[in-house]
Amino acid sequence: MQLAMIQDRIVPMEELEPIYLDRAFYFGDGVYEVVRSYDGKIFALEEHLQRFANSLAAIGITGVDIDQIRSRVRRAFDAAGIANAKIYFHVTRGSAPRDHVWDANLKPNFFLTVSELVDEPQIKIKGIAVSTHPDWRWKRCDIKSLNLLANVLARQDAARKGNDEAIFVDESGLITEGSHSAFFAIFEQPPDAANGVWGPPRRVLQTAPLTANILPSITRKYVIQGAKNIELEMVEKSLTARQVSDADELFIAVTTKDIVPVVKFDGIVIGDGKPGPYTKSLIEQFRKFTHWAPDPSTNVEQGQKTGQSADAT
Ligand code: PDD
Repeated sequence: MQLAMIQDRIVPMEELEPIYLDRAFYFGDGVYEVVRSYDGKIFALEEHLQRFANSLAAIGITGVDIDQIRSRVRRAFDAAGIANAKIYFHVTRGSAPRDHVWDANLKPNFFLTVSELVDEPQIKIKGIAVSTHPDWRWKRCDIKSLNLLANVLARQDAARKGNDEAIFVDESGLITEGSHSAFFAIFEQPPDAANGVWGPPRRVLQTAPLTANILPSITRKYVIQGAKNIELEMVEKSLTARQVSDADELFIAVTTKDIVPVVKFDGIVIGDGKPGPYTKSLIEQFRKFTHWAPDPSTNVEQGQKTGQSADAT
């Protein structure tokens, strides 16, 4: 008899619920998204759906209707009635007996949760501490894949050391991103008068460029837009841990927390150990995007073009 065992219970194979054969369990064979709402409005849903479509295409999961995903997200969000919600959803390639090769006819599985997002204002007021961890991930981190083992191990290592996020450092010593966030540094560079450069100081916001080594973070996109509004010069170039410890300000950016100042990096105090003025200004800028009240006649495209919140229910 072919059988399965779930904890202590023997189940004949033909009676096994298909979910136990989900390829996500065996291979992490699927992709996911995390979206949030602010005060009853889902933020940047269209961008998240576009990234989701890109992730599906990148791993060859076909036949998923993004319009249907959009309406499921909205339906679940409305049914939950949570104003500040975290909406998690994933699609896996489907359920089948374990085999590396998949059958083209597999039916993808969809799963979604809506939960309350309790904002933690103190992390924005006090800032957080982070620690570095080797980037053990694969070479397609631009895909929001369910394979998160390297992220989980890094984040757990940071937690064990009393830190709130792990920052990945690749084999050449360059910082890629956080275990579940984008990572930014701000440098104030005085004019190089010794070399004849005069004028106001340069204020630079630096982050890794969008390559296959990092996730194209949606929050990152809005941070860059906000930086323009406060005249921070944007530099998309990877940094070393050494350079980062000399930064004037650091922060992470992620959908669930938007911008969070980083005041300690591998035990080194950044600036005066408090969230810096530019990070605070960026937090204010970001709030304008998330609390932008759209004209009902304004469609999503227009919202994006003006750099405003791309989506609102
Ligand atoms: N994490 N980089 C990584 C590796 C991430 O996992 C995330 C998001 C980000 C930020 O992306 P965005 O701004 O689109 O949220 C960057 C999600 C929230 C998670 O896994 O829970």
